[in-house]
Amino acid sequence: MTSRPATLPRAAVLPAALAVLAAAAVRASIVPEQFDEFAPYGILFIAIAATQAGYAVGILARPSRILAWTGVAGSLALVLLWLVATNASLPFSPTPWQPRPMTAPDVACVLLEVLAAVLLGVAALQRPRRVRWLSPVLALAVAASLPLSGLGFAAVASGMPVEVNTSSAIPGRPATEMASLVEPSGPQPVRRFTLVAEARQVAGATAWTYNGVVPGPELRVVQGDRVHVTLVNHLPVATTIHWHGIAVPNAEDGVAGVTQDAVPPGASAVYDFVVRDPGTYWYHSHQDTADQLPLGLYGPLVVLPAGAPAAGRDYPLVIHQAVGGSGGLAVNGAAAPRLDAAPGEPVRLRIISAVPGAEDGAPEQLVLLGAPYVVAALDGHDLHGPQALEAERLPLEIGQRIDLVFTMPARGAVRLVDANGDESLTIGSGGAPAAPALDGLPQLDLTRYGTPAPDPLLGRAAFDVTFPLVLGNQPGFREGTFEEIHTINGSAAPYGPMFMVRPGQAVRLHIVNRTDESHPIHLHGHVMTLLDRDGRPFEGSPIHQDTVLVGRQQTVDVAFLADNPGLWMLHCHVLMHAATGMSAMLVYENVRTPYSMGTRSGNAPE
Ligand code: C2O
Ligand code: CU
Repeated sequence: MTSRPATLPRAAVLPAALAVLAAAAVRASIVPEQFDEFAPYGILFIAIAATQAGYAVGILARPSRILAWTGVAGSLALVLLWLVATNASLPFSPTPWQPRPMTAPDVACVLLEVLAAVLLGVAALQRPRRVRWLSPVLALAVAASLPLSGLGFAAVASGMPVEVNTSSAIPGRPATEMASLVEPSGPQPVRRFTLVAEARQVAGATAWTYNGVVPGPELRVVQGDRVHVTLVNHLPVATTIHWHGIAVPNAEDGVAGVTQDAVPPGASAVYDFVVRDPGTYWYHSHQDTADQLPLGLYGPLVVLPAGAPAAGRDYPLVIHQAVGGSGGLAVNGAAAPRLDAAPGEPVRLRIISAVPGAEDGAPEQLVLLGAPYVVAALDGHDLHGPQALEAERLPLEIGQRIDLVFTMPARGAVRLVDANGDESLTIGSGGAPAAPALDGLPQLDLTRYGTPAPDPLLGRAAFDVTFPLVLGNQPGFREGTFEEIHTINGSAAPYGPMFMVRPGQAVRLHIVNRTDESHPIHLHGHVMTLLDRDGRPFEGSPIHQDTVLVGRQQTVDVAFLADNPGLWMLHCHVLMHAATGMSAMLVYENVRTPYSMGTRSGNAPE
């Protein structure tokens, strides 16, 4: 026995081979995604997985010291390769000098390889008769390799789906086609715009812009106009434009994978719709929104009331993250801008929040100082009989708009400050009022602001249909990573709930927030009327919003009239919440779309 060349302890070789095999399997299962990203990665992954599988078989069949040391070196080389790729970049890469994101399958492979290297090293150093000393270590190693490969496979299984279609039609039967849900031709005056989506240097940083500016150009139109926008895509990726808050015909909604395919680089698309409701709106990309919007793809859209001559100053103000990553906020691209207004002049501020939002979704808290003012409109819709207010905190979530109207005082300036930070904006000349202790200020209570007015959805005894929306969050696997997932009724997009309605129905949404985060819930294509919050009815002016703030652990009831057939998104507008699953669909019966989300089309609306 002792005369034979020393064989390696099986107790170490066996788990090592299993770990290498598990790493090969996990890697093999993500080959398609690698091909989608960059073909050479796919080839590299196949080569590595095949080598690993061959190696595992080899060391089991003919264990030898030299083979064991080769395994140690090979495994460590793979770990090194991954460290370089995630921290710097590989010399060959589709995006030069951009580190590879750290994903769960990669991490599982690397941990399995570290494990294999240790076991193989121990095996190579060990003589057979000392195996007994090894057994607890080996038991531990085997125990560790199981959850590790499980982690890898769970992550792989949670990958982005190949194809998800949101049609509500029965396959093979006639249905309303997406292509038919367009604006009928009419006599409206046509307003034409071209928005070129392109990467540009803005304030010393690369931004993704419309027409070279962040925010994008102001589109100012008049109620009843026909708006005709050509989107030209000069970005390196596909994109769309969504007309947030405007009840456009479904096919004009700009949602990648639902109402259209994302427009590829070099191509263009046309949006055509009539603006029937005056007010403050905005537009933004709805492809890969969580990435594209913060890079600068958003802008204001103002619809002036027909036949009402403009009086005084009218300023759309987009609040957004400053370009260049200082972390601070900006208003219309400037850190602390000053706007013109003369004493006695009426001023309307149309404030739009494009701030992607904190992780907990907490809204911005705006405070207007220096003049009494009214909240004239929310999300573009006028309030009835709004009372003049003193300094109060006005919460504003991403996606929401608030119009403040006031008259410039006889002397001094007016200031708008954000109680979450020290951003501010000054209107008029002269000394600006000092900010009081913002924390102590009351918050505007919308349940009793303004005066009541008749409303088709308020004071209704019954609704045709009520949908509960339970908002939740929990850790879990999603798109190859382990992270906090956001759910509606327990499921995460693109497998979120589909709420089915028929034209003419009065629909109630009973939104229950079971999280310690705030969620601005946005419904495309419709306007919601707020009914009650935590059981307390809205008793002031009727409130009409397309983006409703549901505070932590709050319950909010809203209603809307199903008057715009199609397939509509219903999602939290905090970009990271939507991107991690908090997105559902409102679908009218029997509507079919040819577009799908997923890796096959590359459409990813969140
Ligand atoms: Cu402002 Cu679905 O978006
Ligand atoms: Cu949210």
